[in-house]
Amino acid sequence: MLTAQQTLELLHRHRQGHALEQAFYSDPDIYQMDLETFFYKEWLFAIATCELPKAGSYVTHRVGDYGIILVRGTDGEIRAFHNTCRHRGSILCKAAKGNAPKLVCPYHQWTYELDGSLLWARDMGADFDASKHGLKSVACRELEGLVYICLADTPPDFERFAETARPYLTPHGLENAKVAFESTITENGNWKLVWENNRECYHCGGNHPALCRTFPDDPSVSGIGEGGETPPHLQSHFDRCEAKGLPSQFHLAEDGQFRLARMPLKEGALSYTMDGKFAVTPWLGRVMLPDAGTLLKFHYPSTWNHFLADHSIVFRVTPVSPMETQVTTKWLVHKDAVEGRDYDLQHLTEVWMSTNDEDRQVVEDNQNGINSPAYEPGPYSPSQESGVLQFVDWYLDTLRRSVAPQAIAAE
Ligand code: FES
Ligand SMILES: [Fe+2]
Repeated sequence: MLTAQQTLELLHRHRQGHALEQAFYSDPDIYQMDLETFFYKEWLFAIATCELPKAGSYVTHRVGDYGIILVRGTDGEIRAFHNTCRHRGSILCKAAKGNAPKLVCPYHQWTYELDGSLLWARDMGADFDASKHGLKSVACRELEGLVYICLADTPPDFERFAETARPYLTPHGLENAKVAFESTITENGNWKLVWENNRECYHCGGNHPALCRTFPDDPSVSGIGEGGETPPHLQSHFDRCEAKGLPSQFHLAEDGQFRLARMPLKEGALSYTMDGKFAVTPWLGRVMLPDAGTLLKFHYPSTWNHFLADHSIVFRVTPVSPMETQVTTKWLVHKDAVEGRDYDLQHLTEVWMSTNDEDRQVVEDNQNGINSPAYEPGPYSPSQESGVLQFVDWYLDTLRRSVAPQAIAAE
């Protein structure tokens, strides 16, 4: 693990407006610092609530060294627990998902209620206190059909984000969703390269023929714009959507952690499909404006999302090692929509399946080039890569605040 002093030196060496030094993308100590500073401390998007349809439905997830179980209780509440038995620590749930009336450890069958309390443990003696051996909780919040978790003992505030995002999300009716399709890919690149790539469309024209049929590679759509001015064509789109009861105005959190904005698609395009037409009926939610475009939301460090009039797509970013990042994509449609009748899976998923694979390729090429001793951080384009700059600034600011607060105060 790096000392605060070493971290500060790295931060001091950073050239504003330029990519990060090689070590940020490959060094195991910096990777560990990233896990501890970001993934073990911040709120992370985990799943959609519809993935836990009834009491006893569970999903497992892994973040760094932590295994996590998300489970719906008999009271309907979704809770998260550490996936480690309170007896001798075995993994409790091994499957990626399932359904169980109780959580039973495979090793000696200690049995837990869905709320994490220990119900049964054989022959533990008269002094054994079951109430002291419930599963350890992980902080968990539901927000309009999305479930966020936080591994910190004292999680940062969630409400500021929730209050801001809720009105944007409500019209998308995610509580009535089902997962039509999900895909998980591993990109051989550092998690920050996955984000940097996501935060610009400078690369779109040269790499994303399918996406470019419907998504404008206009930097004011993908980035944060120069000088903070909203261009008139976007303002009129926001105004038109808001007049229909759809919160749309560009909103960037004060600390830069999340962004919300309802952006137009290309002229004539309605959804992310090869023909630009809608992919699903009935629509998920009540976006009554066919050309409302896509509600773009990101929340660092774990998720970006596209919410469309007919369906929604949620992405989850999970680092696996210094140079491996898992990206999980889920296509959410109305729970009553029937595959083959109301939507065609290929039509629904083709654009983002291709786009994800193209992004994997450019991220891996980026990582490979950075690994050369000749790599030198180059400048970001102020107009095309404002979103990347914004991400890198957020990353460095958060590191600065979290890793070396004393040193910052003394500066
Ligand atoms: S480790 Fe779980 S019951 Fe023994
Ligand atoms: Fe891309």
